Amino acid sequence: MIWTYLNEKLAEAFAAAGYGEVPAVAERSRRPDVGQFQCNTAMTLAKAARQAPVAIANQVAGKLEFPFDRVSVAGPGFINFSLADEFLASETGAFLHDPRHGCPAVEPLRLMLDFGGPNVAKRMHVGHIRSSIIGDSLQRCCRFLGHDVVSDVHLGDWGLPMGMLVAEIRRRWPELPYFTPGGPDGPVDDGITVDLLNKLYPEASGRCKADPAALEEAKQATTALQTGDPGLRALWRRMVDVSVEAVRADLGLMGVSFDLWEGESDVRDRLDGMIERLTASGVAERSEGALVVPVGRDDDAEPVPPLMLMKGDGSVTYGTTDVATIEHRVEKYAPDTIWYVVDQRQRLHFVQVFRAAEAAGVVEAGRPVLEHLGFGTMNGPDGKPFKTRSGEVMSLRSLLEMTIDEARKRLGEIALAADITDAERETIATRIGLAAIKFADLRNHRQSDYVFDLAQFSSFEGKTGPYLCYSIVRSRSILAKAAAAGFAGGGLVAPRSDEERDVCLRLLDFGRAVLATYERRAPNALCEHAFELAQSFNAFYHAHHILSEEDAARRASMLSLTRIVCDQLVLALGILGIEAPERM
Ligand code: ARG
Repeated sequence: MIWTYLNEKLAEAFAAAGYGEVPAVAERSRRPDVGQFQCNTAMTLAKAARQAPVAIANQVAGKLEFPFDRVSVAGPGFINFSLADEFLASETGAFLHDPRHGCPAVEPLRLMLDFGGPNVAKRMHVGHIRSSIIGDSLQRCCRFLGHDVVSDVHLGDWGLPMGMLVAEIRRRWPELPYFTPGGPDGPVDDGITVDLLNKLYPEASGRCKADPAALEEAKQATTALQTGDPGLRALWRRMVDVSVEAVRADLGLMGVSFDLWEGESDVRDRLDGMIERLTASGVAERSEGALVVPVGRDDDAEPVPPLMLMKGDGSVTYGTTDVATIEHRVEKYAPDTIWYVVDQRQRLHFVQVFRAAEAAGVVEAGRPVLEHLGFGTMNGPDGKPFKTRSGEVMSLRSLLEMTIDEARKRLGEIALAADITDAERETIATRIGLAAIKFADLRNHRQSDYVFDLAQFSSFEGKTGPYLCYSIVRSRSILAKAAAAGFAGGGLVAPRSDEERDVCLRLLDFGRAVLATYERRAPNALCEHAFELAQSFNAFYHAHHILSEEDAARRASMLSLTRIVCDQLVLALGILGIEAPERM
């Protein structure tokens, strides 16, 4: 990777100037008029070396040879430099035969990614959308880097909400065979659909809030379900199956996939054992009839309440299943690390769970490393979490439909290729719509909140998904025109303009952007890179007439550069989970 190479070369120069082993660092120049890069290491070294930084900088600068070019020292001791044009061409040209575009592979870890997190019988809402988009991009990034990734959707299918629904269905349709002793002996024609469940859930939860007796019934149903009542289990299975089918369809439309479709309920058989073990070892304590794991520490800035392991009525909580799920994952998948891509507002929950897992010995000697990667909210214009016009939670499905609809409208405003059929137009609209929503979500650091602004997200100009898709389509169309004219690509020749140099420099930055995305667990670094690459390519394209260039070698070189840009944009968007249309 170019940055590693530059740092090594700079370190060699520091050594040659007599400063021993110095961790020298090259950076993008803040003053492009004097050079493409700068190195400020002389300044950090000055004190220890007891020399004026500018003197150090001058000595080191004197040792910088090819590919360093235009080397100068400025201010208190900045070394400015550029790269020789021939070097830029050969480094960039190497990408023609390198599907990784210079991005190094890392030492592989087994990484489990817990994201998506939809709940049975509840519509996926914007929080789940963010989790799916960010989590999917991180899984793609980790795979690209060579990690061994196992992703799990971790369905919410085992808490009080399940009991509430079961109780609600029993109240309305007591005659269903789920409520007879022993339960049904075969499939039941119960009329349960995902729409029905979505309608029942808010009503059930509202009733439980308003009426203590209803809440008590729901709690009893939860306990009965969790302790194995066969009829309630059969009903629950139905609710899970119906919900999973809908969730799979939604996530499929989004192009998000998971290795595992496990859920909270998959650890139900280990809960009793775990609770017994934690009680016997004294990790869990009785507290007002419940069983808790104290996880507070003296140095906590804010008190961290104990994790509720088992409530007085014998039911378990979200926290209990999360601790047991870690145990399950350790035994079954032996991960080095587990990442949880979950709303920032669940921060305290994860602090409790991670500490309880450690106290329980589920995490041993810091392995697996547990990380909660929180994210902010997608807000409406009022600054509150995005809702529908009637004030309901916006479902993933309606959001996608809205976005694709907007894309369809926008496509009507631009001139599409004349032979595009209606079916192809639909595919294009879907891809552009998804690109709009995904890029808008990923371009900010995951922890920031952002405001949903469909018109801006869908624009073909500015830092948007559609703009990037359009850049890919445009570069493809240049390549197609060239092919039709019989022009082939060739080896890269030394760039001649600043626009062309800029494209090369951007391309060489790809590996660093991917690594930054991984290291910060935040795809905005890659979004930024893709956008800047597209912009520099567009500037290059406007400055040079590739197809009418008379010098055949230069034309072939510029075509290859176009090819590399196109491939890298596809690669970068691929890691973001975005697919550009073939043409437009
Ligand atoms: N189902 C949860 C929710 O909707 C998210 C699950 C996140 N993952 C976890 N292991 N807790 O809030």
